[in-house]
Amino acid sequence: MIEPLKDIIKAHIKSQGPISIAAYMDYCLLHPKYGYYTTQESIGAKGDFITAPEISQCFGEMVGVWALDLINQILEHKDEPIQLVEIGPGRGVLMYDILSTVLRFVATSKIKVYLIEASPKLKQLQEKKLSAFDVDIHWLENLDELPKQTTFFIANEFFDALPIHQYFFDGEKWGERLIGLDEKNEFQFGMGPHMPVLDQVIDLKRNKGEPLTKGTILEDSPISARYMQHIASHVEACGGGALIIDYGYATGESGDTFQAMANHGYVDPLQKPGKVDLTAHVNFGALVSQIMGKDIALYPVMKQGEFLTAYGIYQRAEQLVAKNPKEEKNIKLAIERLCDNEQMGQLFKVLQITEKNICPQIFTSQE
Ligand SMILES: C[S@@+](CC[C@H](N)C(=O)[O-])C[C@H]1O[C@@H](n2cnc3c(N)ncnc32)[C@H](O)[C@@H]1O
Repeated sequence: MIEPLKDIIKAHIKSQGPISIAAYMDYCLLHPKYGYYTTQESIGAKGDFITAPEISQCFGEMVGVWALDLINQILEHKDEPIQLVEIGPGRGVLMYDILSTVLRFVATSKIKVYLIEASPKLKQLQEKKLSAFDVDIHWLENLDELPKQTTFFIANEFFDALPIHQYFFDGEKWGERLIGLDEKNEFQFGMGPHMPVLDQVIDLKRNKGEPLTKGTILEDSPISARYMQHIASHVEACGGGALIIDYGYATGESGDTFQAMANHGYVDPLQKPGKVDLTAHVNFGALVSQIMGKDIALYPVMKQGEFLTAYGIYQRAEQLVAKNPKEEKNIKLAIERLCDNEQMGQLFKVLQITEKNICPQIFTSQE
């Protein structure tokens, strides 16, 4: 089988030495000609994985209720259009359900939509799906192009697609986990040179009396940190908020979460570069640390199940069942999949930030 991307990455390694997992992910996901997002039909039954908005319309509607609540609070004291920005909008299903909810109560002229999408194929699907709304929609190459106005950022399963670096403790020292070639010219993991800067992690653990285990892996995603910084700075300067939903962990260490999916199952991440989806769990603690010190409101990281329940997903499901009783079983199964701890309810986390003048209703009603 001809695998041009494999040859491109191998040629890079042969000429310059082993590469980081981040560099490998960059090649595999975003290569302009052979990258996964450039070429593959990733999401949906025919793709490699399914996302929450594709499981039930109720997911996007609850995100819509979150946005509507905060937009209404803003419109009480500001008379200007509100920007809704989705980063990594997939097939446009989430934004469709958000707009269906928000535009029932807010005039179209008050909403501007901005989408940031790396995949030309998905961009076309988004255009088609969202043509149902008579609302201003623009696609941006990156967040720098976003006008400096009140904005709500939404990202579902975007941060997990961003490249990570892994660091490995061999019992004595730390090095970066790299991808090189074995004697059969196949990709293999290996350890890069000793990284003295990471020895601080050992000292930190020693001081806390925590065990130092050979084989410990730490993950870091500088690009995720930059996105979060950008989002938080925009909210601080221009107002609005952000809702980040993804699978990941709120505290502690990750271990090795670098993974690949194809046809709805896990596969070897070093096989078939550009043909399989590569992701890593999101370190919400690291995202939160990017927000510290900013003059914005940060709320406790929630589990997806808690968030959706608080915004009324079960009540909404009951309404849908009443309208379509034959679909009761499917509707309820979809909600269970989104909310149950054993399914997506616990692994997926929700991070919310807002400008200080407003507050999501689920936190005000707790006071
Ligand atoms: C897992 S999908 C999630 C799609 C959608 N949010 C949903 O919930 O169905 C990841 C999305 O992020 C996009 N994406 C991945 N990396 C990106 C990048 N570096 N810049 C912009 N979009 C990116 C993908 O093309 C895709 O639309």
